[in-house]
Amino acid sequence: GDTLDVTLHNALAEDTTVHWHGLMVDEANDGSGLHPVPANGERQYRFEVRNRAGLYWYHAHPHNRTGRQLQMGLAGLILVEDEEERALRAQLGLPWGERDLPLMLTDKQVDAGNAIVYRDEADDWIGNRVLANWTPEPAMTVAPGLYRLRMINVANARVLRPAFLHEGAPLPVRLIGTDGGLLDQPRIVDDLFLAPAQRADVLVDFGAVPAGARVLLRSLDYVAMENEDESGPLAPDIMADHPGAVMMGGALDLMVFDVEGVAAPPIHVPDTLSSLPPPPDTTGWKAREIRLSMGADGEWLINGLNFRSHGHHPAFEVKRGSREVWDIRNNMTSMPHPIHIHGVQFRVVSRSISPPDIRARQIADGGLGPQDLGFNDTVLVWPGEIVRVAIDFSQPFSGTQRYMLHCHNLEHEDMGMMLTFAVVD
Ligand code: C2O
Ligand code: CU
Ligand code: CU
Repeated sequence: GDTLDVTLHNALAEDTTVHWHGLMVDEANDGSGLHPVPANGERQYRFEVRNRAGLYWYHAHPHNRTGRQLQMGLAGLILVEDEEERALRAQLGLPWGERDLPLMLTDKQVDAGNAIVYRDEADDWIGNRVLANWTPEPAMTVAPGLYRLRMINVANARVLRPAFLHEGAPLPVRLIGTDGGLLDQPRIVDDLFLAPAQRADVLVDFGAVPAGARVLLRSLDYVAMENEDESGPLAPDIMADHPGAVMMGGALDLMVFDVEGVAAPPIHVPDTLSSLPPPPDTTGWKAREIRLSMGADGEWLINGLNFRSHGHHPAFEVKRGSREVWDIRNNMTSMPHPIHIHGVQFRVVSRSISPPDIRARQIADGGLGPQDLGFNDTVLVWPGEIVRVAIDFSQPFSGTQRYMLHCHNLEHEDMGMMLTFAVVD
């Protein structure tokens, strides 16, 4: 309900924008590359915050330069509060900034002098240095008790699989929220997949390990499924730009927590976190196909189109006030793509033909895992998978509002794995 009013002064020598990732705003305030702010230019963003409580973020979004500008640090967090969130906070009694913390996770490629490096037109930009809240070698001393950690992956390309390990074994944690805020009830998980742009709100009980113990937040190894056919002239030397980096899918230490001090009285976690409705019954909703693939020249495509050649012209139009299901289908000869839709928060209604690692996480009808059960703005679609999402296009704006649909692997986005769609009267 608050009005956010921010003026961007662009002191860079190139275009930039501020995009409010996850917030349901109109085109003029969306800060996509459709409205670049030139060097020395200025732009005011002013809109009412209509989202549920949750951890959202803002970042630069100029065409062709999003990967570079994020790698250099143009990103930050926005915490939205509402009554439900305040009620939960009062119940948990975890002081913000002490036992309720955002954890902004990323990897950077740095050179011998510790300067961040980036190569334009590169593919998946993974790095040799992990940062949490922009801090290298992140570590924290924690009390033996409950903590709320709001994790967000702000890496350019690396999909993380975070787990809290004690003596090598995962400490079960409660997942309480996703991109668009609180789940209806806590779900116990050992680990998660956190793709670029995704958020996971978790309760970790450091009281479950002995005082003096160390808990390691590690991204566990996983099958990266980079199945695209990049043989012959397309064959890249994927690690050439990334000396010292762990390959995609390799285990990566993110942060350490040293448990010290005396246990605080145990905290009761309520069974009901919020009034999140169940996923909608989508019978009769218009269905749309969103196909992800790679073209013959190695270019990433959505519905056969690449943004660099197709440009701003909306690839399709959606009626304001309508509700649609989108079937996002990834080619088997592809890699996992975190697909992000501007202007909305959607519900995942089903996953089919999922790889074994994903099938093993299914806890609800439709093949859904714990992270599919809330509102989301970014969904990871694995090779061969069909992920059906339900989107409600009611919005208080009028006229044509253009939004982006793109892969949040920023190198894919910059290389044109992006479309414009329009919400129309
Ligand atoms: Cu996080 Cu189109 O952006
Ligand atoms: Cu966004
Ligand atoms: Cu992608």
